[in-house]
Amino acid sequence: MRRKLAAGNWKMNGTTASLVEIEKLLETHPDPACEMLICPPATLIAQVAWRCRAKHLKIGGQDCHWNTSGAHTGDISAPMLADAGATYVILGHSERRTDHGETDAMVLAKTEAVWAAGLVAVVCVGETERQRDLGATLPVIGGQLDTSLPAGGTADTLVVAYEPVWAIGTGRTPTLAEIAEVHDYIRATLVARFGDEGTGVRILYGGSVKPSNAVEIFAVSNVDGALVGGASLKATDFGAIIDALSAA
Ligand code: PGA
Repeated sequence: MRRKLAAGNWKMNGTTASLVEIEKLLETHPDPACEMLICPPATLIAQVAWRCRAKHLKIGGQDCHWNTSGAHTGDISAPMLADAGATYVILGHSERRTDHGETDAMVLAKTEAVWAAGLVAVVCVGETERQRDLGATLPVIGGQLDTSLPAGGTADTLVVAYEPVWAIGTGRTPTLAEIAEVHDYIRATLVARFGDEGTGVRILYGGSVKPSNAVEIFAVSNVDGALVGGASLKATDFGAIIDALSAA
């Protein structure tokens, strides 16, 4: 059985004033049926981790460098994230790929670094609107999986997030049939690549998930949870998504 995962990606949002949302979430969801994860900006990881010690909320980073240390001004390594209290790291988000020119090869190297630090990698894949219009969605996703996932992925170390680039922050989502098609394809690819372990890897949907569409999205085949941006910033919205996932 795959444990469902509700993951919040705060992106470049949040200061110490936002910690009240974490407190609220811990208060309203002391023992959820699904796993809860928040990936705040790096500046807040240690403080959030401190508040969450021994609680049911996991903390993650939004990116890391592929080296463990060295002359990389502005970067953060996987062991540093682990030291701050993170147990997950989002990798290859489309905003990293677009804003920082991240390639599949870099995502692969970062995934290896995350595993070496004992953390779980949440590797993001997704097609642009143009690629979807051209009918290239599945080949694009297949290519990203092939070249950004290292050998040896397991149910405990890898989560894949399907995030259509055109659905992120736009309020638009694919149809449920389109989500099912991609998630079933990702599952088949993971099983072909990692055998039994591929059956246990969780596949999250991301892109404009909100309380009003969460129930129907969580009912889709091979959707094991969500990677949520905007709607994860408020405890009430993220809490409603967590409730929908717990009931799915
Ligand atoms: P969104 O972002 O929920 O605001 O669309 C999702 C993501 O980018 O992870």
